[in-house]
Amino acid sequence: MRLTIGVDIGGTKVAAGVVDVDGRILEKVKHPTPADGDALADVVCDIVEELAARHPRGAIGGVGVGMAGFVDENRSTVIFAPNLDLCGEPLRDRIRRRIDLPVVIENDANAAAWGEVRFGAGRGVDHVVCVTLGTGIGGGIIVNGQLFRGRYGAGAEIGHYRVVADGRPCGCGNRGCWEKYASGRALVAEARTLARTAPAHAERLLKLAGGDPDLIQGHHITQAALDGDAAALECFATIGDWVGQGLADLAAILDPERFVIGGGVCEAGEILLRPIRESFARHVTGRDVRPLADIRVAELGSAAGIVGAGDLVRL
Ligand code: BGC
Ligand code: NA
Ligand code: ZN
Repeated sequence: MRLTIGVDIGGTKVAAGVVDVDGRILEKVKHPTPADGDALADVVCDIVEELAARHPRGAIGGVGVGMAGFVDENRSTVIFAPNLDLCGEPLRDRIRRRIDLPVVIENDANAAAWGEVRFGAGRGVDHVVCVTLGTGIGGGIIVNGQLFRGRYGAGAEIGHYRVVADGRPCGCGNRGCWEKYASGRALVAEARTLARTAPAHAERLLKLAGGDPDLIQGHHITQAALDGDAAALECFATIGDWVGQGLADLAAILDPERFVIGGGVCEAGEILLRPIRESFARHVTGRDVRPLADIRVAELGSAAGIVGAGDLVRL
């Protein structure tokens, strides 16, 4: 298969692209994520048909879908999507009803990790943990060069690893999950709270958001931080500290060679990485004596999920 279509279904948008054997995206489309399962399968099919129509018949060899949720061991059904309110959704079958191509459904963060290991920041490394910071926190674990899926397909759900006893309520039904403290959404929540309680401290941030704390988005926080806004920098320090603590715990279990951090917030680069690295070094067990994993941002950026999903359907 020379070309495939990779689809990345996130908490807020569905992004897809035509991917070649070298992990290059030839063209891309985007759509807001619809609320229910039927509509979701329709959107995926519409996008696939739209992209396929731009190529000669037979040029597209398959469709890989990365989905923000637990995907079953057969890579076909979405067992549970905590941030989309979906349960037991037979996504693969629904897509196959309209699209006569091989279809594989994979967890979005697993797909992104695969993309990074094949073509990005994890290339040539056999023990990698990818952490995607977005609406939630996604995890992709590569052990001995293989994608780890667990017995039932739902392994590497690191976002729901509980870091605070009786902490903030999570979409998964538990409390205190890591993603409630360290995701892109947590960063935005932190910034809105700061801007509301200490507006004088967050002048630049508020200006970028048109004066309304509720309109603050991730890219405003990145821009404000780059401009030296104290509140925005504080938000990155807070989230980075939570991320670093989580990485320390993951290192205690998995001992990877590299962590790859993905998701939109990575556009902040060192502003995010510095507090993550500091917190990781402060919390990791055996810190003064063990070899430490290095921490990098995703090279494929927000395209990792599309590229990885597109590649997984070739295997
Ligand atoms: C979901 C994961 C997903 C992650 C990132 C989490 O809330 O449980 O399945 O990979 O968000 O989208
Ligand atoms: Na995962
Ligand atoms: Zn949770």
